[in-house]
Amino acid sequence: MTCGKWVGSLFFVLDVVYISSLVIGGVVIENPVILAPMAGVTDRVFRQIIYELHPGLAYTEMISAMALVYANKRTFNMLNLEPYRPLSVQIFGSDPEVMAKAARIVEKAQPTFIDINMGCPTPKIVKNGEGSALMKTPDLAAKIVEAVAQAATVPVTVKIRAGWDEDSINAPKFAQKMVEAGAQAVTVHGRTRSQFYSGEADWDIIGEVAQAVDVPVIGNGDISTPLLAEKRLAESGCAGVMIGRGALGNPWLVARCRQYVTDRSCDPEPTYEERIKMACRHLDRAVAYLGEAVAVPQMRKHIAWYLKGMPKVSEVKSRVQTLQSPTEVKRELELYLEELRSLTG
Ligand SMILES: Cc1cc2nc3c(=O)[nH]c(=O)nc-3n(C[C@H](O)[C@H](O)[C@H](O)COP(=O)(O)O)c2cc1C
Repeated sequence: MTCGKWVGSLFFVLDVVYISSLVIGGVVIENPVILAPMAGVTDRVFRQIIYELHPGLAYTEMISAMALVYANKRTFNMLNLEPYRPLSVQIFGSDPEVMAKAARIVEKAQPTFIDINMGCPTPKIVKNGEGSALMKTPDLAAKIVEAVAQAATVPVTVKIRAGWDEDSINAPKFAQKMVEAGAQAVTVHGRTRSQFYSGEADWDIIGEVAQAVDVPVIGNGDISTPLLAEKRLAESGCAGVMIGRGALGNPWLVARCRQYVTDRSCDPEPTYEERIKMACRHLDRAVAYLGEAVAVPQMRKHIAWYLKGMPKVSEVKSRVQTLQSPTEVKRELELYLEELRSLTG
């Protein structure tokens, strides 16, 4: 018999650590490092880049259930999914019937999972009782999960926060209720709605959720290094870790975290040259998929993220914000790369 103990998804035998795969509703996820859903960021083009770095799972941006049901064209385009899997489509809304109808529409795009957003803090979302506002109405949230789980044939998951505010932290109880209603995995962002994205994520509350439910829990908040990904996974009892802002301009973080949690070693951080080349490649793909007129303005924020922290970068960043053609943008980035090479000898 092998002696050891499970901590989350890790089995410790003496000093050796084995990573188990993460299984959600019978679907095996090959590694526990997951790309977060991010509106305005995790579109098909960005996900294509991320998939080359082999995340365990990626998510779409959040998609309005109401807009799907009313056949909004722009929203429907978000369901034009790439072939890579596993992929979770995230929907938001507060009406169980509308959410169920949206789930049936989403299923036609053949995602691996449907995720329900119960964490978005934006005022225009919470004022409709959607996103993180659902953490104040657990009965309604449970009805939504039930309705979506009944409508869908793929596993349904939820993404929640620690609670609405520091006086109403309810993630463990709330998660239990969502699981009873049919959720097959729970992602917890360890902040309250009142915190938005400020302060530090509370990984103790994430650990409490992992203890409270018998489905996989994915911990989320402030994972910025491979070491931290490994530490959070080992200490929280979570079956997976989700990376959001750390991957902005730095998709390699997903690969480096995956390597580190599985092998205890990882590639070095990308060089300035690799980051600039990736920015150009990302731009090319965006242009190919969206066309120049849409892609160039959309890519400005991504390019600023790729360039973040580089020396003497402010001028090139502001020039890129004004350029309209991808050729000009790439020329600007190439010139900057030459300048960097001369700076570093
Ligand atoms: C630009 C941006 C957009 C986001 N959009 C979504 C979203 O569509 N759905 C969602 O559940 N969370 C969304 N989030 C929250 C992230 O998924 C994640 O929970 C949060 O950023 C904390 O993780 P991090 O500290 O690794 O960034 C968004 C966050 C950012 C920064």
